[in-house]
Amino acid sequence: MHNIDQIVQAATAAFAATADPDALEQIKAGYLGKSGQIPGLLKGLAKLPPDERKLLGAAINRAKDAIAAALNARREAIQLLALEGRLAEEALDVTLPGRGQSRGGLHPVTRTLERIEALFRSIGFAVADGPEIESDFQNFTALNTPADHPARSMHDTFYLQDEAGGVAEGVLLRTHTSPIQVRYMQAHVARHAGLATMPEIRVIAPGRVYRVDSDATHSPMFHQVEGLWIGENVSFADLKGVISDFLRRFFENEDLQVRFRPSFFPFTEPSAEIDMAFMSGALKGRWLEIAGCGMVHPNVLRHVNIDPEKYLGFAFGMGPDRLTMLRYGVNDLRLFFDGDLRFLRQFV
Ligand code: DAH
Repeated sequence: MHNIDQIVQAATAAFAATADPDALEQIKAGYLGKSGQIPGLLKGLAKLPPDERKLLGAAINRAKDAIAAALNARREAIQLLALEGRLAEEALDVTLPGRGQSRGGLHPVTRTLERIEALFRSIGFAVADGPEIESDFQNFTALNTPADHPARSMHDTFYLQDEAGGVAEGVLLRTHTSPIQVRYMQAHVARHAGLATMPEIRVIAPGRVYRVDSDATHSPMFHQVEGLWIGENVSFADLKGVISDFLRRFFENEDLQVRFRPSFFPFTEPSAEIDMAFMSGALKGRWLEIAGCGMVHPNVLRHVNIDPEKYLGFAFGMGPDRLTMLRYGVNDLRLFFDGDLRFLRQFV
């Protein structure tokens, strides 16, 4: 009997001494397994007289149950331990501050375009856009640009390939936003067909344009904002007023100077280049070219079925990339299009 109690105690102590499930099963085999201590004791019963055998047999069975119970208890305890360990390991600290979404920002040129749109909207201009793959007609012909004009050369204009690898007939990457003038006027005329008097056209059109050109101040892709105001009584004086006012508001600079220098564009007559200069700051007194403009050529109006005897107006095309460089003091145009976050983050 004494011996049996010791076996139970030893088994319970051995179970308690391990936390490893495999080791636990090994220990169990030493007590309850086929050649373990308890089956060994049961085998010995056969040699005993019947009443002793009965007494001892019952004691051995109680010991067996006790060992099995201790084993199960230890199995559960080990499982619980493992679970607690895992929970501790995988615990989430819900009190940590969140990582948050990193915030994006608008590209500096986009900021400029939005600013230009807002300023022109405030004086009654609509905002239009058009396709970047443009027809030869809209990009050149309708704008009074003859077939032999140098701007049409392959050195200046990106043409598209046809399926055979040749130059696709009549399609190109627009070289300026001026074709949007043509599209807008065509749609406007169609919309107001039959009216005795066509309502005024007042629109700007920002967008990307493409030219075969690349250095510190030229990129093969850049931006333009086209402007167009057509009515029965729109003058060059209105053009000067609109542009000067716009620039002063854009740069928030009242004493900025604007100058109109005679120039040539096929689609305007007369034509001018617009220069501006700050009267203070680092760029004080330096004239910078920022746009082309002029009174819309009668041939352009004729191409879109507007009667040049009745309607006239002005157009301009300016460089928002330039305006962005001036506004933020950036000296290399390519920085805008390199996608370097160290540069772009400064504008967020
Ligand atoms: N399209 C011209 C260019 O890309 C800019 C321009 C000049 C636009 C005069 C106009 C304009 O609308 O009237 O160089």
